This record gives sequence, structure tokens and C-alpha cells, in this order.
Amino acid sequence: MNAISDRRTFAIISHPDAGKTTLTEKLLYFGGAIHLAGEVKARGANRRARSDWMKIEQQRGISVTSSVMTFEKDGITFNLLDTPGHEDFSEDTYRTLTAVDSAVMVIDVAKGIESQTRKLFEVCRLRNVPIITFVNKVDREGREVFEILDEVANLLQLDVTPMTWPVGMGSDFEGVFDLVSNRLLLPEGPSRDYKGKVIQTTGLDDPQLDAILKPANLAKLREDVELAGVGYPEFDAEAYRNGDLTPVYFGSALKEFGVDSLIDALARHAPPPHALPAEPAPVSPDANQVTGFVFKVQANMDPNHRDRIAFMRLCSGVFKRGMKLTPTGHGKPIAIHSPILFFAQQRELADEAYPGDIIGIPNHGTLRVGDTLSERADVRFTGLPNFAPEILRRVALKDPTKTKQLRKALDDMAEEGVTQVFYPEIGSNWIIGVVGQLQLEVLLSRLDAEYKVDAGLEMAPYETARWVSADNVVDLKAFTDLNRGAMAKDRDGNPVFMAKSAWEVGYIADRYPKVKFAATRER
Ligand code: G4P
Repeated sequence: MNAISDRRTFAIISHPDAGKTTLTEKLLYFGGAIHLAGEVKARGANRRARSDWMKIEQQRGISVTSSVMTFEKDGITFNLLDTPGHEDFSEDTYRTLTAVDSAVMVIDVAKGIESQTRKLFEVCRLRNVPIITFVNKVDREGREVFEILDEVANLLQLDVTPMTWPVGMGSDFEGVFDLVSNRLLLPEGPSRDYKGKVIQTTGLDDPQLDAILKPANLAKLREDVELAGVGYPEFDAEAYRNGDLTPVYFGSALKEFGVDSLIDALARHAPPPHALPAEPAPVSPDANQVTGFVFKVQANMDPNHRDRIAFMRLCSGVFKRGMKLTPTGHGKPIAIHSPILFFAQQRELADEAYPGDIIGIPNHGTLRVGDTLSERADVRFTGLPNFAPEILRRVALKDPTKTKQLRKALDDMAEEGVTQVFYPEIGSNWIIGVVGQLQLEVLLSRLDAEYKVDAGLEMAPYETARWVSADNVVDLKAFTDLNRGAMAKDRDGNPVFMAKSAWEVGYIADRYPKVKFAATRER
């Protein structure tokens, strides 16, 4: 076994309700055993019992936190990074996507590509994350297979290669034909635990098929697959790994159907950890020294302790418990005595981790999202984005003696990436920015529960913000001097231009061609 080539670190992207949670559960089930850091979205009473560390989770019944789940199958270690499913809470999701080597895109067969899927896909594209598509819910009435394939191809500008093909759909659903192995996958057993039956055929002309499938379904299958052979390119592993082509699998997560084909596809085609962008040079996973970066920080998981967990993706070297790593750019080396490793089954592995694995590092606020940790001091991973906030609010403190606590809370949460904070150059009304409404509720709830600060949010006279820079400092200074009333600093002191509308951003950008207005900022 090769620890690097046998690892698959991936995430599932989808629109709420497409079936991500169900698929996650089934993947873990197929993978045998699981350790859950956080939880797969728990239901009913379980939900309340399991995630009582955060009120908002109970109130909204959604999973706000990312979690990491590791499972093994046939010698391959899969690290599945779960991401918050809620439409509004996507910044965390975006960052999680910087820590994976590939993604599975789940689409509802009746709905096709939805808004959230598309946004997340764009983030994957920015980083050339290769995508396997799983078209879910084929046990229900859905759209024509061609329609779905063409939608993926056209909306996402990707080549698509169908790897399996559903036989009938909805009430007429008979099974899935695997076009690569020529196996017919048939559901068997009562619907809740549909055990699959596999029939090896010699191809679509195999007479066995006539005996099993309804004549109309079989005729359509043969005709469709022939057409598809002409209309879509053959699977090309390199095009997939470059993010130019997506292999498409059909199935039903609920009925456990097609999930094993998906795991096989991940094992066979998805890339193992590879070199990641860094300064001064990309870091290869087989480099000897341990390096990694923090893509998520979660504070106050236990209300009795002020500790936070920093989730670090290991990028190179073999991590051993007790090892000393230095956060690049600030701080002294820290000895990592009690890392949280997400293996449940293999206790003997619990003291070691390999590139592609995620390590939870308890700390008191020293580690921040975007930090590189390494045995060598001169490396910094790049490309962890901050997103331009879409909602800006002024924070109104009800008790003025709590200014210090408020500032600490806002800084803490900016560090974690829950919200962004902007300190205007003029005036003392601090402004927070989020990409989704739910983040505002998280902020208020945590201000109250964790920092005992009673604050409200008011409309701000701005709608969006852009990080500004210029090649020549003189140009930047000229711009900021003339627009002082709209300038602020972010948590790290970077200059930010606050705009009344997206239109204003465009207008100002035209007038100051030497100034760059960035909607994302790398940490
Ligand atoms: P999400 O995490 O992407 O938001 O979706 P989730 O898995 O929670 O699934 C959303 C709904 O779709 C659930 O129904 C789930 O049972 C259903 N579902 C998921 N996969 C399939 C599938 O392959 N076929 C069919 N027919 N349904 C599927 P729900 O009624 O909202 O929840 P529940 O009461 O069943 O838990």
C-alpha cells in the first residue's frame, strides 16, 4: 500500500435537497466504518442530542459545521470533507474546497443543475478540481438522460461522458447499465434496503438482457446508448483530472443504488494528493518535510473550554503525534501533542497521518484560516480565498462598556471566517460583511452566548466591498485619499473600498484604471 497514491480526499457539492446527506451516509455505510467529526446531518431527536454545542443548529436544523469523515474500501483511504449544505452558509464550503483533490457533484435527476451547485462548481473550476457527477434519485420520475447530460455540458462548459445509463426511470425504473464493465445492476429486495444484483453481460447485444428487461426499456436503452456513443466523448482520464471532463454516474442514494459504482470511480479515477500551489514553489506530497494549511477553524465546540480546533490539510510528509510545526509568518513552533485524527477503526494509525489527511489541532486562537504550518519556515500555501461580502451591516452595541469584548468577538469570528469585519477610516461604526443571511444569525447568537455582548445589526449605507491594490503605491494613495469616506480596513489592515452598489464598483473601477478591485482576497 502506498500511503499517498491510495488516498482520495474529496468533497460533495450539491444544491440543498439533492441528496448529499443521504449519499454521504451511504458512502460511509459502503465504506464499512466511520468516525464522525461533527456529524452527518442528524435527524429528529438525534439531531438535538448530537449538535447541542451550537444553538443555531438546533433552531434551524441544519449542519453549520464542516466535518471530516474517513473510511476505507479495498485498500483505499477516503477522506470525505463534508460541507455545510445550507444555501446561505457557503463561505466555509468554498474554503473546504481548497482542501480537497476532487469533488463529487450530486444532481437531482428531476432538477438538473441548480444555483448552489453552479456556484460551487465555479469554485472547483477556479482550482481545476476534477469532478465526478452523480445524478441522483433515478428511482423517481426525472428528466430525460440526454437532457441532463446536455445541461451539465452546456451550463458548466464541460465535456461529459456517461459511465452508466439508467434503464427506465421513476415507476418504470429497472436498473442501471454500467457502460464500462457491461454489467447490469439490478435492484433487489424491499425498497428501504435494496440489495443490488449484478449481472455480467457481454454488452448491450447480450441476449440475457432480453430475458430480464422490459422490451420497450431495452430497446430505448440500446438506442440511447448508441446515440450517446456518437454524441459524447469517450472517457479520458487526463481530461477529467484537468477538470475539463466529468464522468457521469446515475443512481439512487436512498435506495443504495449506483453508490458502489461511484466509490469504484473515485478509487479508480479520482486523483490522489498532488502538488499544491505555494510560495516559493508548489509543494509535492512526497516531499519529506511535513507541511499543511488550515482551511477551517472552529471555536467553542465545547462551551466549557475556550479552545478552538483548527482543521489542517496535510500536504506533504508523514505527520507524527507530538511533532513541532511552525505557523508561517507568525508565531513560534507549536508541538502538536493531541491532534485529532479522524480514524476510528485503525487505532494503530491514529498517531500518524499522511498527505491528504485532515488533522484537527486544538489551540487557543493562535491558528487562523489560511495559515501554513510546516517543519520548514519558508513555505506558504496560496489560494485560500476571502469572498466579497454580499451583505454589509453596521454593528450597534447596546452597552458601550462592552466595546473591547465586541472587538474581540468580531476579530475572532473574522479569524474563523464566520464573518468579515471592516473598520471604517472615518467614524467608529464597525461593519461586518457576510455572503449569506444565515451568517448574521450565527454572529448574533454567538455574540450573545459566547461573548455576552448584546448587539444589534443595522443597515449599512453600503452593499458590497472590494479589496483595493495598485502596482504603484502612489496610485493607491491617490485613490484612498479621494475616497476616504468609503475606505475601511479589514481584520488584517488591508484597504477595502465600500461601495453602495455593484454598479458603483464598476463606475469607480473605470475611473481608476490603475487600481485593482478584487472581489476575493487570498489569505
Ligand atoms: P441534502 O443533504 O442534499 O440536502 O439532501 P438529503 O440527503 O437530506 O435528501 C433530501 C431529500 O431527498 C430527503 O427526503 C431524502 O430522503 C431524499 N432523497 C435522497 N436521495 C434520494 C434518492 O435517491 N431517491 C429518492 N426518491 N429520494 C432521495 P426528505 O423527505 O426531505 O427527508 P427524509 O424524511 O426522507 O429524511
